[in-house]
Amino acid sequence: MEKNKNIKTIGVLTSGGDAPGMNSAIRAVVRTALANNINVYGIKWGYMGLMDALIEPISARDVSGYGRLGGTRLGSARALKFNSEEGMAIAIENLKAFEMDGLVVIGGDGSLRGANDLHKRGVKVIGIPASIDNDIAHTSFSIGTDTALNTILDAVDKIRDTAGAHARGFVIEVMGNKNGYLALNSGIACGAELIVLPNSVIDEDEIIHKVKVTFAKKSKSFICVAAEGASTEEYNITEKMASILMKAGVDTRKTVLGHIQRGGKPSAFDRILATRYGAEAVYQLMNGNSGVMMGLVNNHIITTPLDDVCRDTKTLTLPEDITAIVDDLSV
Ligand code: F6P
Repeated sequence: MEKNKNIKTIGVLTSGGDAPGMNSAIRAVVRTALANNINVYGIKWGYMGLMDALIEPISARDVSGYGRLGGTRLGSARALKFNSEEGMAIAIENLKAFEMDGLVVIGGDGSLRGANDLHKRGVKVIGIPASIDNDIAHTSFSIGTDTALNTILDAVDKIRDTAGAHARGFVIEVMGNKNGYLALNSGIACGAELIVLPNSVIDEDEIIHKVKVTFAKKSKSFICVAAEGASTEEYNITEKMASILMKAGVDTRKTVLGHIQRGGKPSAFDRILATRYGAEAVYQLMNGNSGVMMGLVNNHIITTPLDDVCRDTKTLTLPEDITAIVDDLSV
């Protein structure tokens, strides 16, 4: 049991693109708070609901069974109005009207920037990183990334079956915004013949050669996993890669996996991570902390100032062992 520094009521909201595991985080926030005699309000539809006062008390029983549910039971939104001084002032008024001493914001980079703006205006706020993109700095994992990765794998495995049945090439576009985490890791896990990341150099001749060599070695399929963020103003990456594979003489199909990657039952990893983040976020508020984001580093839960989180970009690092694996396995 933590010592509580005068926190009697808190609010919790989910914001931005939903991510599997958000419900486990809500559940952990609610139950940890109630166990420490803190009342909790669930704020519907993210910052939009905070501005529109869509705020309701939430009980321990309300969050029963939340762990296994995809999406977010509180609803989410990308609320542009919240970025204005006017929107922020209304949100702060509502936090005061409902006598909330603290707020837990569960969301991606835009949502965490909003949380930091509230913190700078005197609201006690803790951020929890949730985004399938895994593009938030100062944490190894955001909630939802692991589940999305497994969803992609399941889809690519199925596509591999039909690709092999017809000796086809497939270009599979995965989400990730400007970050290539999902493309890189799903590509490794499914044994893709080619992985295209944002900023990858696309050497057409080299790729055509690789496709030809792959089929010459009696491989039955050629899978190219492409990050959506690899598209540029000049071209759509999926169209471009498919046309290159066709030039290599391979019958090629395209699949854009889309929002299927955001849904579904959260993985065990995401449920556990979300539960750890949620409980610790409440302890942080009880200890009088504000303006920090929860993170996971070396399997330890850490906090980082939201200022740093908002300033820093998470770069996709390619450890040497992984580089070797990718090279060796594509022989
Ligand atoms: O940030 C999560 C994400 O799913 C990205 O991977 C994707 O680019 C974007 O959101 C899609 O956003 P929307 O659901 O608004 O179309």
